[in-house]
Amino acid sequence: MDRLTWALLSATFTATLWATAQGIYVDTGNPYDNGTLEVNTLTISQHDAPLLTKVYYPNKIDTYAVLFFTGGLLGYIPVESYSIVLKAVASHGFVVVGVDYLPLADERDRTPGQVGSQTKKYLEELQWVTQHLEERIALQLNQSGLVPAFDHLAVGCHSAGCDPIVDMTEKNHTFSKAALFLEPFSYHFKTPVKFRMSAFILGTEFSTQKPMCIYPAEGYNHFYDFWQCPKIVMNVKGHGHCEILDPPTYAECKFAKACKINPDADLKKYRSFIQGISAAFLTTTLQGRDKLQYITNTTLLPVQLLEFKKDLDC
Ligand SMILES: *[C@@H]1O[C@H](CO)[C@@H](O)[C@H](O)[C@H]1NC(C)=O
Ligand SMILES: *[C@@H]1O[C@H](CO)[C@@H](O)[C@H](O)[C@H]1NC(C)=O
Ligand SMILES: *[C@@H]1O[C@H](CO)[C@@H](O)[C@H](O)[C@H]1NC(C)=O
Ligand SMILES: *[C@@H]1O[C@H](CO)[C@@H](O)[C@H](O)[C@H]1NC(C)=O
Repeated sequence: MDRLTWALLSATFTATLWATAQGIYVDTGNPYDNGTLEVNTLTISQHDAPLLTKVYYPNKIDTYAVLFFTGGLLGYIPVESYSIVLKAVASHGFVVVGVDYLPLADERDRTPGQVGSQTKKYLEELQWVTQHLEERIALQLNQSGLVPAFDHLAVGCHSAGCDPIVDMTEKNHTFSKAALFLEPFSYHFKTPVKFRMSAFILGTEFSTQKPMCIYPAEGYNHFYDFWQCPKIVMNVKGHGHCEILDPPTYAECKFAKACKINPDADLKKYRSFIQGISAAFLTTTLQGRDKLQYITNTTLLPVQLLEFKKDLDC
């Protein structure tokens, strides 16, 4: 390939995967280390916002890219159960908006086939935080100037939390620049997407083994097959579906034998990997700093992989 072709190809690739991110905070460190920013927590009740909302944001006045995240296991896992990973992602310079599934009063909305009404709630929630979050953060800090930049937003999810997220992006993909699918699962993802949005998709070896928490045909490989370029998928060896969670929820999952786990896993190291790979992907796609080698150079990863595929030439 001659230099010109190469330059043109790289330019196309760069334009597709990277956001231009003027004025946005950029993390310059190694994503697998904790970020340098202190992180605050803000809770907004579902009587106030459309859904119960936990926000993790850096305790320093600046303009930050946003991650809109929903948790999983059919909605029985509240977003606080991901606080270690989400706070660590926020410390790399992101406002992380974690939303819970519908409150228990709306139990029937959780059943398969009802995803439409959930999606509507999530879209309302996104609109609400877009309009009100900056002001709520200013109230908590007693100081204005911290800006969640909703024009630099990614969606993220774990497990069945990815069901409404896929539905949301099918209804409107323009609000999000990237998708972080952690052990995704969806009942409703039946047709390949037609739009382009950079995606990182993570699977774990034990999530598809008994006691099974992800059906392979609806899990990470399905997401990879149905997503468009640019996309990356990996399957992590020797880890399971609950290991991303904070220790109390992980302990419940282990006690209930809800999903297959690795009892010998170094959970601190694993969560540090999850936050690191998430930060590498989000820094590349939202902050405009190329940290792809922290994902694609698999020899550098702190875990072993069973599978790795990427399609970035688009
Ligand atoms: C990152 O921060 C967490 C929580 O404060 C801590 O437990 C962990 O050891 C830190 N990891 C690194 C790599 O410094
Ligand atoms: C908030 O800021 C105002 C003006 O700077 C100050 O008078 C007030 O004491 C502050 N309140 C708190 C709770 O820090
Ligand atoms: C999609 O989302 C964008 C950004 O939030 C918004 O401006 C646009 O109006 C939405 N489009 C539709 C059809 O809802
Ligand atoms: C991946 O990282 C290793 C270790 O730092 C390095 O030797 C190798 O050149 C890297 N590979 C690529 C393709 O960048």
